[in-house]
Amino acid sequence: MSKIKTVFQCQACGYASPKWLGKCPDCGAWNSFAEEKQSPKTLKSFGASEPQPLSRIIGGKEKRTAVGINEFDRVLGGGLVNGAIILIGGDPGIGKSTLLLQAVAEIAKSQISDTKLQTPDSGLRTVLYVSGEESPEQIKLRAERLSIDSDNIMLLPETLVENIIRTAEDLRPSAVVVDSIQTIYTEELTSAPGSVGQIRESAAKLMFFAKRSEIPVFLIGHVTKEGAIAGPRVLEHLVDTVLYFEGDRGHPYRILRTIKNRFGSTNEIGVFEMTDEGLIEITNPSELFMSERPLGVSGSTVIATMEGTRPLLVELQALVSPTTFGMPRRTSMGVDFNRVNLLIAVLEKKAGIHLGGMDVFINIVGGLKILEPAADIGIISAIVSSFREVPIDAKTFLFGEVGLSGEVRAVAQGDARLKEAAKIGFKKAIIPKGNAERLKDNFGLNIIGVKDVEEVIENIRI
Ligand code: TYD
Ligand code: MG
Repeated sequence: MSKIKTVFQCQACGYASPKWLGKCPDCGAWNSFAEEKQSPKTLKSFGASEPQPLSRIIGGKEKRTAVGINEFDRVLGGGLVNGAIILIGGDPGIGKSTLLLQAVAEIAKSQISDTKLQTPDSGLRTVLYVSGEESPEQIKLRAERLSIDSDNIMLLPETLVENIIRTAEDLRPSAVVVDSIQTIYTEELTSAPGSVGQIRESAAKLMFFAKRSEIPVFLIGHVTKEGAIAGPRVLEHLVDTVLYFEGDRGHPYRILRTIKNRFGSTNEIGVFEMTDEGLIEITNPSELFMSERPLGVSGSTVIATMEGTRPLLVELQALVSPTTFGMPRRTSMGVDFNRVNLLIAVLEKKAGIHLGGMDVFINIVGGLKILEPAADIGIISAIVSSFREVPIDAKTFLFGEVGLSGEVRAVAQGDARLKEAAKIGFKKAIIPKGNAERLKDNFGLNIIGVKDVEEVIENIRI
């Protein structure tokens, strides 16, 4: 008889070790190892196991069906691909179950086109919503709140993956939702549900099911406070698409962001607002983010940023005030903290603006996060505006990256940014000279190309 082998696995990242360790050498987590039976070797596969010449393989566009929520379809790369496995991560309580329930309700309203799938009398699609967290009664309560009712949304309270797959194989729905992957376990392993081994094995089984049956599967995963999907971080390589549902609990806006997508571009976003009747799509986020902007106050500026292929105008605020105790404080919300420090140093050195005795706070309005450096000149001008207490003209917006010698560098997709700003009524653009020289059109804007930080400062003073 062979001995049962056990391994110790880090519950945060999945690192395996033959003996217990106090600290994970891979992700650095403390006290995160738990003993688990070694995963059985999976011998199943979902394709031909013989090699074939590339030229013989018949390609074709992957089959997609629209979910019916535009913001969601965009993030998926233009609809739901047959057999795709999609992981949706987010903080507890952010609205993942709400989003997926609304999505399946839309799918359940559309007519069936694929004859392989089960065809009920109504001719509408069936969807299977598996919940390992909530009872059907709780889901019904949520559905009532969202005014969702349907004969084709099948609810299954289940946590054993083998049962889920068996039910899905019988039902042959148009989509399966598993809420959440942390509660699902397989009978092949003895470790507790929620452990890395269980999550990985269960997800692998669901992945094989999706590929075999061509039925798309959504997995919901909770995120830990460190920002990684707890355990399911180990799933990111396994699934086709990883979406994050983000937002600030204090704000109603929610952003669905693509982190990985085998069937489309990453960095797409979908914007939603959480209301009493569920999530509603925000088709023109720029207008929304501009709507509450205070006019004529110092420290507020508008930047044109890109989220994937989508231009977005957002308000950036800075507050510069004298430090009361020794060390000046620097705080940033929505932009990279180190980037802010770097830009403050550039301002000191290249523009002679001394912020040594000043606290500097930066905030992106609406709970958004801007990662691209095109926000740089926005940060600089907001700081200068607050420092000098001179407001920036309300019809002016900016974009451009700042280098360490104070130069303003061109950024990608200048035209798209200008077009979006012109559409919502901006008049003046302060942009990198490199971008200004290459423009084909001025979109009715007064465009000012700047080459360094000093020119930015000159031009924001009206
Ligand atoms: P939920 O979808 O349960 O979050 P998750 O699955 O990510 O844990 O939604 C959680 C929050 O959303 C909850 O605090 C209540 C709020 N909510 C609304 O504001 N409006 C609604 O219509 C619904 C259904 C929920
Ligand atoms: Mg939930």
